[in-house]
Amino acid sequence: MKQPIVIAIDGTSASGKSTNARLVARALGFVYVDTGAMYRTLSWYCLKKGVDVHNPRAVASACRRWKTSLECVDQRVRLLVDGYYPEQEIRSEETSAAVSHVAAVPKVREWMKRTQRECVKFGNLVMEGRDIGTNVFPETDHKFYLDACLHERTKRRHADGIKEDLASRDHRDSQRATAPLMIALGAKVINNSQMTSAQTSGLIIEEMRRRLGLS
Ligand code: DC
Repeated sequence: MKQPIVIAIDGTSASGKSTNARLVARALGFVYVDTGAMYRTLSWYCLKKGVDVHNPRAVASACRRWKTSLECVDQRVRLLVDGYYPEQEIRSEETSAAVSHVAAVPKVREWMKRTQRECVKFGNLVMEGRDIGTNVFPETDHKFYLDACLHERTKRRHADGIKEDLASRDHRDSQRATAPLMIALGAKVINNSQMTSAQTSGLIIEEMRRRLGLS
């Protein structure tokens, strides 16, 4: 059986991963997976259950116990908790502030990697995150790394109505011991500070069409 194709898109916070990954997935007819949303879901679950997100053992234990399932709706993968999809809740300021602590717990990362690899059951994937090319699908040949200057990224988050200390979240994401944010070997790096999402996604789509012999 032919192996599903995985396009890994990693990068800093607000570097346009989600927008571009969605555009690439739509153009190529692939399934879109937002792995940040999975970490956010666990973060939301911990806050809801009163689990101290600064206590790695408590977070690991919550991750061992929670009851989840994956589903694919409109070519997008969703992580459900007790059958519920917390789409809006995981974008709150509180969840955003807690998520990189939750994401630093090694047992959580093991669980996420296992669950994210399972997504190939839905078909060819565009998966975005921080460690997809380095850790979740290191074997894929299709790796992209997005970045933009801090000023530009902060402006983008503000335009979305979100106030966030991106510099400290990036610092925590790239300094953690397990699967830190870094550029995967062989990844194509795109700094899109001066680019629109149509231009950024256009580069990736064109490159992938060429690689897949579609153009
Ligand atoms: O992309 P995002 O802002 O929704 O990600 C939320 C957090 O999850 C971010 O602080 C880093 C973490 N994350 C991660 O560690 N590994 C991933 N593959 C995806 C996200």
